[in-house]
Amino acid sequence: MSKVLYIIVCAAGPAAGVGKLVTLAQDAGWTVQIIATPPALDFIDVPALERQTGRPVRSRYRKPDEPKPPRADAIIVAPATYNTVNKFAQGAADTYALGLLAEAPGLGIPVVVLPFVNSALAGRAPFRRSVDELRAEGVHVLIGPGEFEPHAPDFGGDISGTYPWHLALSALHTPGT
Ligand SMILES: Cc1cc2nc3c(=O)[nH]c(=O)nc-3n(C[C@H](O)[C@H](O)[C@H](O)COP(=O)(O)O)c2cc1C
Repeated sequence: MSKVLYIIVCAAGPAAGVGKLVTLAQDAGWTVQIIATPPALDFIDVPALERQTGRPVRSRYRKPDEPKPPRADAIIVAPATYNTVNKFAQGAADTYALGLLAEAPGLGIPVVVLPFVNSALAGRAPFRRSVDELRAEGVHVLIGPGEFEPHAPDFGGDISGTYPWHLALSALHTPGT
């Protein structure tokens, strides 16, 4: 049985193109489960992603009597917002996506975070601290030269189409992730 990849999609411009990452992951042999943050539901085409993955897009905790979905073998957060990166680093678990992330390092599940933030947000001390703290916990945060490079404020829409989805998948196969 193929391994299960959770793709956690946050509410940032490139989210509409997450189907590209689904295709790359499926081509690499992964079974893909999409998890959306609640605000990301406005950015994605839920029925199209459900057709593509064959699984319901999940965005909320299950009800106690609903069955547990299969555990992830790996998690990619893409696009990762300023909000979710900071909350992940602080240990918040107030959305289903954050609840999964909160447990992942302790369960030994590899996590790759590919942010999409502008330079005004990326330069903030809380965000830089979050990146450092997540890396110290073994989370692979792809921000910096040759990875995701923050864009100028107000130009996110112009570069959403060049978002490097493929880096998230290749990082899963790099040592240390
Ligand atoms: C059109 C639009 C584009 C946005 N783009 C970004 C973005 O590129 N990066 C980011 O961190 N937040 C962006 N935001 C703000 C987030 O959507 C907002 O902080 C939200 O609360 C994030 O929720 P989430 O982290 O649970 O997905 C955008 C908001 C809107 C309405």
